[in-house]
Amino acid sequence: MPEKVLSIGAGKHQTPLIKAIRDSGYLAVAVDIDPQADGVKYADIFYPVSIFNRAEVIKCARQVKTDAVITASSLLGAGKTVSAVAQSLGLKGPSAKAITNSTNKLKLKSALLANGIPTPRFGELSSDALNQPEFPVLLKPVSGVGGENIKYFKKPENIRKQSWDTACFWEEYLEGEGISLYGLVGDEVCQCILAANKKHSGPPDFTRHELTPIPFRRKYQDLFQKIVKVLGINFGPFFQIDCLKRGGELYVIDVGIEIDPQIAGLLNSEFQRNIYREMIKLAL
Ligand SMILES: Nc1ncnc2c1ncn2[C@@H]1O[C@H](COP(=O)(O)OP(=O)(O)OP(=O)(O)O)[C@@H](O)[C@H]1O
Ligand SMILES: [Mg+2]
Repeated sequence: MPEKVLSIGAGKHQTPLIKAIRDSGYLAVAVDIDPQADGVKYADIFYPVSIFNRAEVIKCARQVKTDAVITASSLLGAGKTVSAVAQSLGLKGPSAKAITNSTNKLKLKSALLANGIPTPRFGELSSDALNQPEFPVLLKPVSGVGGENIKYFKKPENIRKQSWDTACFWEEYLEGEGISLYGLVGDEVCQCILAANKKHSGPPDFTRHELTPIPFRRKYQDLFQKIVKVLGINFGPFFQIDCLKRGGELYVIDVGIEIDPQIAGLLNSEFQRNIYREMIKLAL
């Protein structure tokens, strides 16, 4: 009986992953609230269950006796479900610490700061914050994704006019070149495999970006390894780091335990398939 690999989600982001599970000779199992989702037709076993219903997903995982659990994009919080399933069934997956540091930007930036890794200045929203001098600043949701609800402020007065809540923090706005690093993290593997220029639409709308691969440098691998270590990223299997380059220094903005569908789309199809295959091997 081939080993079973459970995909958290069967939408368009997970479809190439589900295909890769099958093409690698494993049984593809998938959960998704939508029985019409793109990837369902490629799954050998499918459960119409929401990826947010973690208790139910864990039940399915136990019932099918899956050998591995994995996802592609964690935009919807699929990463947390992977971690919960992995912990419940004793499978490989990101630890709770890895999930916290990659989904809570305040925790992430505090860990970077404590370990001497450059990151734009930041703080919690308090009355003190309103007097801090680093304008322009961005107000960001602590657990934001997809650039949504990032607000740009040139002057303190404008912040005062806004109604903001405690789930946001401020961050110094840095002009710079976006550089993102992508790689694999698993048992005994910590390899940055790709660097790209990430060009954002900028203020006021941070929801769109363009990626262009750039030549690889040794220092990207060094930074990738260092960040994996200080954040306690025990496992990805895919991991990405967004930086801004200014004055020859790379400032870390954000990290994610996910394969950005846009970066996957940039790779030639053979390279893309190989990455998904490697991710599956690491998860088993
Ligand atoms: N402090 C900053 N100064 C300048 N630009 C920034 C800053 N923070 C973020 N940006 C720009 O906005 C983008 C999105 O920021 P961030 O990663 O924090 O948000 P997100 O919601 O996780 O978005 P995404 O899903 O695109 O990563 C960054 O890639 C960068 O181009
Ligand atoms: Mg981000």
